[in-house]
Amino acid sequence: MHIIKEMNHNKFKKNIDFRSVNKLDLDLLIQLYESRDKRQNHQPRTYEEQKNFVDLWVNNKEQHIYQYWYVICYEGNSIGTITTKKEENEWGIWILEEFRDKGLGVQAGIEFFKTHKKNRYCAYVFEYNKRSMKMCEKLGFVLESKDGNKFKFVKNN
Ligand SMILES: CC(C)(COP(=O)(O)OP(=O)(O)OC[C@H]1O[C@@H](n2cnc3c(N)ncnc32)[C@H](O)[C@@H]1OP(=O)(O)O)[C@@H](O)C(=O)NCCC(=O)NCCS
Repeated sequence: MHIIKEMNHNKFKKNIDFRSVNKLDLDLLIQLYESRDKRQNHQPRTYEEQKNFVDLWVNNKEQHIYQYWYVICYEGNSIGTITTKKEENEWGIWILEEFRDKGLGVQAGIEFFKTHKKNRYCAYVFEYNKRSMKMCEKLGFVLESKDGNKFKFVKNN
């Protein structure tokens, strides 16, 4: 089992790319939203809100809450997104269910941080989200504080 996992990790080490979110990504974003853990309170919630959120990103990045908003591409597939909010450089990553647990989250994070250097990033992770915590630790984040079941991780450079 362990060997198969290692092989998967190696297999998935390559071919991760990023491109900025555009209007054609709405279906992917809705799909990611629908696959969310229902204990989390994501925004935007409705199709219309999501569409307006993307339109603002495409048309007026100055007014948008994100500094970076990428689709993660793996071998021709759009498999998820990476975001960074302007406030606090809050980092987030979402991967479609069928591509999870194959090492792609960690690999996409590694590729992202290679080329997007900042003094400090943070990430908020719920206590029950063990996979995300493990991913954050692998990417160099450390636990800074806890607010109930919401943990704040930071990555200092
Ligand atoms: C969190 C997320 C981005 C991680 O990406 P991923 O590709 O699934 O994760 P990886 O395959 O890179 O695995 C990360 C580590 O977590 C481990 N892991 C996987 N499932 C786990 C689980 N249920 N419990 C604990 N660890 C787990 C993996 O084994 C891996 O560690 P390893 O390399 O030592 O084996 C992805 O699962 C996801 O999109 N989840 C839903 C959205 C989300 O929670 N986003 C993060 C918000 S901060």
